[in-house]
Amino acid sequence: MGVDIEIKTPEQIAVMREAGLVVARTLRVLAAAVRPGITTADLDALAEAEIRAAGATSSFKGYHGYPATICTSVNEEIVHGIPSRQRSLRDGDIVSIDCGAIVGGWHGDAALTVGVGAISAEHAGLLQACETALWRGVAHARAGGRLGDISHAVETSVDASGRYGVVEEYTGHGIGSAMHMDPPVPNYGRAGRGPRLRPGMALAIEPMVMLGSSETVLLDDGWTVVTADGSWAAHFEHTVAITPDGPWVLTQLAEGTTPQDPSDPGGTFPQTPLGSQGPPGP
Ligand code: MF3
Ligand code: CO
Repeated sequence: MGVDIEIKTPEQIAVMREAGLVVARTLRVLAAAVRPGITTADLDALAEAEIRAAGATSSFKGYHGYPATICTSVNEEIVHGIPSRQRSLRDGDIVSIDCGAIVGGWHGDAALTVGVGAISAEHAGLLQACETALWRGVAHARAGGRLGDISHAVETSVDASGRYGVVEEYTGHGIGSAMHMDPPVPNYGRAGRGPRLRPGMALAIEPMVMLGSSETVLLDDGWTVVTADGSWAAHFEHTVAITPDGPWVLTQLAEGTTPQDPSDPGGTFPQTPLGSQGPPGP
């Protein structure tokens, strides 16, 4: 294949896990801080403090001139919203928080969408559809498979959840010694196509799902991507390493043994690459 995909050693993946844990802990703090009245700049300040306290650095700040530590995308904003002191969250909003951290030169990148106060059933369903699609994609990040298996799993999962749009202009990506690397990881595609997945690869899988059409618009700030029709959007992301024992979700907290995949109540995901339970089931 034409795409050159970075292969990490197990030791390098272990450092990526450290970066992933910094991201996971930061996102946990931020999700817990979300409430009506807080500004997205407040969330950014919390993230900066958390990442610094961990001895890590932000993957985002300064990336092509990006001015903040996290991206905060509210309601019809899909991704890459810039935190602002002018943007107070309100009851019923949804906010997507995207965070990346570097440890020892290795990156972790993850995102989640949370409701502010009480959200509508329609918006709760949107969040659920997007998160479930992420985990269906993660389940296909297996050695021997192909990249298209992940893309196809994400797409079919969203379609099975209801009538939603899936963003096509923005994709997931390879990740490791840089945040954005080959290969692009689209959220739609055909199973059995694309590069072969091998141990040592790491991918950021990140479905972006909206209630309306999949068309997007880039705002004049050069960063914020919004839905063309104003419908609200969700974004969930994990950094996943492909190991001989199955996908290792590097940005999942996995403290204790409780699986955090809502679509995987049986807990088929290995908590570490050395887990003895083998690759995820069908
Ligand atoms: N984390 C985003 C992604 O998922 C990228 C953020 S862009 C930045 O790919 F400019 F904010 F860094
Ligand atoms: Co990403």
